[in-house]
Amino acid sequence: MACTQDLTLAAMAPALLILLGTVAVSQADALPDETLLLLPPVNFTIQAAGLAQVLLRWQPPPDGAGANLDLEYHVRMHTPQEDEYETRSTESRQATPLHRGVSASVRTILRRDSHSLLAASRWVSARLEAPPGTPGTAAVNLTCTTNTAVGNDTPSASYWVSLRCAWLVGEAAPQDTQYFLYYRFGSQTEECWKYSRDALQRNIACWFPKTAIRSKRPDPLAVYVNGSSKFMAIQPFDQLFALHAIDQVNPPQNVSTEVAGLEGTRVSIQWEKPVSAFPAHCFHYQVKINNTRRGSAQTEHSTTNGFTSVIDNSSRYCVEVRATVSAACRAASLWSAWSPPSCVGHDKPRPSPEQLLLVLPATVCLVLLICSFVCKICHLWTRVFPPVPTPSRSLGNLEAMSYEKTASQDAESEVIMYVEELGPEMLEHPVF
Ligand SMILES: *[C@@H]1O[C@H](CO)[C@@H](O)[C@H](O)[C@H]1NC(C)=O
Ligand SMILES: *[C@@H]1O[C@H](CO)[C@@H](O)[C@H](O)[C@H]1NC(C)=O
Ligand SMILES: *[C@@H]1O[C@H](CO)[C@@H](O)[C@H](O)[C@H]1NC(C)=O
Repeated sequence: MACTQDLTLAAMAPALLILLGTVAVSQADALPDETLLLLPPVNFTIQAAGLAQVLLRWQPPPDGAGANLDLEYHVRMHTPQEDEYETRSTESRQATPLHRGVSASVRTILRRDSHSLLAASRWVSARLEAPPGTPGTAAVNLTCTTNTAVGNDTPSASYWVSLRCAWLVGEAAPQDTQYFLYYRFGSQTEECWKYSRDALQRNIACWFPKTAIRSKRPDPLAVYVNGSSKFMAIQPFDQLFALHAIDQVNPPQNVSTEVAGLEGTRVSIQWEKPVSAFPAHCFHYQVKINNTRRGSAQTEHSTTNGFTSVIDNSSRYCVEVRATVSAACRAASLWSAWSPPSCVGHDKPRPSPEQLLLVLPATVCLVLLICSFVCKICHLWTRVFPPVPTPSRSLGNLEAMSYEKTASQDAESEVIMYVEELGPEMLEHPVF
């Protein structure tokens, strides 16, 4: 037991005495400093509080203890996902899917400072059971996307977010199953009223043309699908979506291209920010410049609403731009679709016959050059102007000749050429 701790706690002593649990009860969770045992919170409960949301509630340790102490609570979520945090409050609202049940623990803690713990109670746990239903009947593979539209009913632009979700029927769901979809954003909850159906008239997709979703807010989107059937209880399914991950950003508007610079050697590209509640500085752009003659494309990045690129003025260029909300305004988003192409310039016509006539001599020269190079490689040169051979080499060659003559009909013409080439060599050497 450190003296310094005794001194630090001298002022808190009366309160601590109340908090000291019987050592026998708390032996299992004994801390390094056994005299500083805190009692855990009491009456810890987990309740469903709206779609994909729970309310965790507890009371401070009994007997009014801790009135003079700066108690905090350390909360750990176990199911569906490990998560932990600390709070001074005795309740906390957490967005989390409920369809697999939720379990969590809480303990009382006393901090020396933000880095070190002075004391902690044992944990107390609670569980919210999974909602009833036959396994395999819940909707599966739920996907959602959002998109922003601008209102044309008011003079000042007002933005709203539409939501589209789709899912598959659970494997074990009876044919008469009907699914219903709800979303929650913040405290607003809404049921879908525009469903799409499969051949058995079961709802499998939903479209909200206008929602309470605000794309600039960091809240997650909660989506909940429950169902009913005459034959069995249908399990509900819920999921949280991060808006940045499902938001389909609109493409940039009014992309225009213009040839600029002396002799038209530059293209100037302008566009407007996408329809979005985010201001202009929140967008990053990708500019794709397609050279239609060469079929090549160059992609550039831009953080402003314009871009200038050097071009070759004998080609036609088509420019497409796409956008994303930058990390400065929210977590990285998906890219929008490409804008419709905006084109500029003309492909210069193909070379005329006169131009071809100029090109022809050059081509011939090139071919000749290549030929001479190939000839060198094949040692043809040395065969046309051979070095003086030694008699033994000539003998070897003749043996090869006679062998080839018997080898095959196909090789014959080749071999005859070979003989002709060897002709002068043999004349020079009257040995044969
Ligand atoms: C805990 O719950 C019990 C029963 O529900 C209740 O009698 C008791 O007063 C509660 N404790 C506190 C500290 O609120
Ligand atoms: C549904 O999701 C499961 C697992 O996530 C996947 O294996 C399956 O291919 C998906 N089905 C369809 C039709 O997309
Ligand atoms: C589905 O959930 C909604 C919202 O919680 C509820 O009002 C409705 O009664 C549920 N429907 C079924 C069939 O369980």
